[in-house]
Amino acid sequence: MKLHSMLFGLIALGLTPFAAAQQPIVIKFSHVVATETPKGKAAEFFKKRAEELTGGKVKVEVYPNSQLYKDKEEMEALQLGAVQMLAPSLAKFGPLGVKEFEVFDLPFIFDGYADLHKVTKGPIGAGILKKLDSKGIIGLAFWDNGFKSFSANTPIRTPADLKAKKLRIQSSKVLEEQMRSIGALPQVMAFSEAYQALQTGVVDGTENPHSNMYTQKMHEVQKHMAVTDHGYLGYAVIVNKKFWDGLPADVRGQLDTAMKESTEYANQIAREENDNSLDGIRKSGKTQVYVPTADERLAFKRVMVPVHKKMEGRIGRELIDAIYKETAFDPSKL
Ligand code: LMR
Repeated sequence: MKLHSMLFGLIALGLTPFAAAQQPIVIKFSHVVATETPKGKAAEFFKKRAEELTGGKVKVEVYPNSQLYKDKEEMEALQLGAVQMLAPSLAKFGPLGVKEFEVFDLPFIFDGYADLHKVTKGPIGAGILKKLDSKGIIGLAFWDNGFKSFSANTPIRTPADLKAKKLRIQSSKVLEEQMRSIGALPQVMAFSEAYQALQTGVVDGTENPHSNMYTQKMHEVQKHMAVTDHGYLGYAVIVNKKFWDGLPADVRGQLDTAMKESTEYANQIAREENDNSLDGIRKSGKTQVYVPTADERLAFKRVMVPVHKKMEGRIGRELIDAIYKETAFDPSKL
């Protein structure tokens, strides 16, 4: 096409060549937590680096705090292409039909971040992300949050202290079974509804890493918290496959770099963010923070680890065994 006819065509479409060249590719990145959390901060970091590295060709719009979509809706929105990027908790992939993600919910399966990274930074993690392809989704990275504490309005020292309590959980069958193992009554609920449910007594307690508890002010409506570190909560950053595959190759490469940097950043700040949040919770004086003794923690471990075996049929024995091997976890030695 000759240059003048191309210009004529653009003007006929109501676009000046300048405006046509300037239209950025928009990535809507929706999430459910506060900006001042490991995930919230990493999303902002990604926005900054993606816009810098693409020289403004990409614009990232971050929507925190369930502002745009709640848990269940955001998954649907991604598949429909209404948003392009999410970072749901690994506990929220079951309803999508990818049950393997719930392996991360198994209580006590990781002894700390170092154990966890053997999985998320290795071939097992890559294999789990790959399972999303068939759902029209690409898994780009794992982002850390941290290890969960329990909260309630009565003291928590032993598993029996949570017996018959209604505890809010994420939409994971493993978490349901975990709560049943201690005699509690699991209540699946969107994250955006948890604070009010705790405040009004619809539920008696919950579990989450400290950064989520603190930024949602859950500690203001809970009298007790036990730092049990009984399970992990982290994220998979995911994109709509059609959108991602349709990006110009150079732009996709730049976004891959931005994602690598953001992942390093997320995983570097997660522990400290959670430690700072625990400090904040303690200083608030609104909830009493209890750190269980080694024996008390072992009592939780003994009743909760049998959940691994119970959930074998759902998650796959091979996957659980592969993780045991990687982290040298031996359920018979408790
Ligand atoms: C929750 O629902 O408790 C968490 O998944 C929220 C989050 O995204 O960290």
